Formats: sequence, structure tokens, C-alpha cells
Amino acid sequence: MKGVILAGGTGSRLDPLTRITNKHLLPIHDRPMITYGVEALVQAGITELMVVTGGTHAGEFLRLLGNGNDYGVDRLLYAYQDRPGGIAEALGLAERFSRGDRIVVMLADNIVEGSLRPAVHNFSRQERGARVLLTPVEDPAHLRHLGVPEMGEDGRIVRIVEKPETPPSSYGVTGIYFYDEDVFDVIPTLVPSGRGELEITDVNNHYVREGLLEHDILEGFWGDAGESIDAYYEVNDFVRQHGANKGLNCSRNTEQYWTYRHSSDIIVE
Ligand code: G1P
Repeated sequence: MKGVILAGGTGSRLDPLTRITNKHLLPIHDRPMITYGVEALVQAGITELMVVTGGTHAGEFLRLLGNGNDYGVDRLLYAYQDRPGGIAEALGLAERFSRGDRIVVMLADNIVEGSLRPAVHNFSRQERGARVLLTPVEDPAHLRHLGVPEMGEDGRIVRIVEKPETPPSSYGVTGIYFYDEDVFDVIPTLVPSGRGELEITDVNNHYVREGLLEHDILEGFWGDAGESIDAYYEVNDFVRQHGANKGLNCSRNTEQYWTYRHSSDIIVE
């Protein structure tokens, strides 16, 4: 499995901080935001990565991450997005890097307390299709900023609604996605949404319609540091106090319950 880290976009919700740098280079506690995503993937055993970015500060990613070896990455490639056209459009730039393999995609402003390893493991056992990671979110006002799944009686996702006025469940779809290589046939069929972007939620709903979308529920803290200034500081405060990408974590779906003793020691219960 390969990893794709999406670090483009205008970062308008963090303006004016993002007038002078890329959002994903802003500090979270003691280091630039994107390094948490790289670390999360490397800890989950993904060591071939592509960073997709754009804009006038793209070169700074090279200065920060270099060839990735210092971060445990074996092979690090970069793609340049000419214009911000949405998450799905950015993912399309990783096609040549990813073809012939499965991918885990991570939005570089998503920060997790726990580990992605159980979900990577679950996806590697999934025959085909896609997988999303959900996080429990209680506040409906917060859910209105996210993709929100509607769950069927069997516990499977029946559709995902992007930024719903009336959230159909108390789960947010995190910016961590797993796809088989068919995703690159889905992206060209998308039409831009009301906000003029190719939406990753439309990709995921395609897999729902095909009956090929699975999910895990991420345990521990999850935050989207790019959502607002308040969210940015909430993530900063959390990471400063508790850290991120810790091996001790649980992730669960309807079939399995996983616990970790160490990040390298997975137990199925
Ligand atoms: C994106 C996705 C949304 C998801 C969120 C997680 O939103 O469109 O479904 O819940 O990332 O961070 P955006 O950050 O583009 O508003």
C-alpha cells in the first residue's frame, strides 16, 4: 500500500496566516503540520509516499521533508497542483504514482492521537473497494463542517452528506481514506460541487452505490486543524498536552475489535 498526503488548497479559513505560507506548514505544537501526517503513515507501515501540494510555497515542502529518509520514508515523491480544484482533483494527480497499488490518502491538516495501523490492516484484508475512518462528533454545529455518514440498520454507511444542514448521524468522516486503484476511474466522472470543487465525498458515495465502502471508527482524538482558527488552536492545545500518533489505541468496526499493546503488537479480540 502506498500513501498520498494532500497538502494543497488555499487555506482560506486560516487567512491571514495562510497569506504567508501554506496551511500545512503552520506549526502544530513544535513542528510543521504536515510532519504529523507523514509520521502517522510511516508508523502504520506506509513508507512510499507522495505529497501533493501547490501554490507559491510548494518548494518549502522539499526543504522541510527532503527525500523523506529522516522521517522514515523510503521513497518520497511530490506532485504539483496548478490550481486548487478540490480534494478529489488533487488525488487525481497521484494516479501515475499509485496505479497498480492500493492507497491510503490523508489530508495533511488531519491530526490523530492514535494509530492508523488497524485500519491499514483492515483495508489490506478487504477484497476491493474503499474504506473511510469515522470519528464520533457530538456537536451538530461541528458536523455541519464535515462529511457525515448516514448509517443503515446493518451498521453500514448508506450515503455520506457533505456539510449537512441536518447531520444524519453523530459521526464525522475524517480526511483519511483508503482506495483501490479504481478510484482513478471514478475521479474523471465527477462534476464540480456548489463550491466549485471535485468532492472526495462524491468519490466515497460512488463506492457506497457499488456496495464497496467499508469503515472503521477511529478512537482517540481527531482534529482538522484547517477547519477554523479555533480548530487550529484546539488541535495545538491537544497535541501540546497529549501528543499525537501514539501506538496505544483502538479502532473498531462491526467485525473486529483491535487493541494495541505496542504499536508493533496488534491483538485481535
Ligand atoms: C474535507 C471533506 C469532508 C471531511 C473533512 C475532514 O472537508 O470534504 O468530508 O469531513 O475534509 O477533515 P474540507 O476540509 O475540504 O472542508
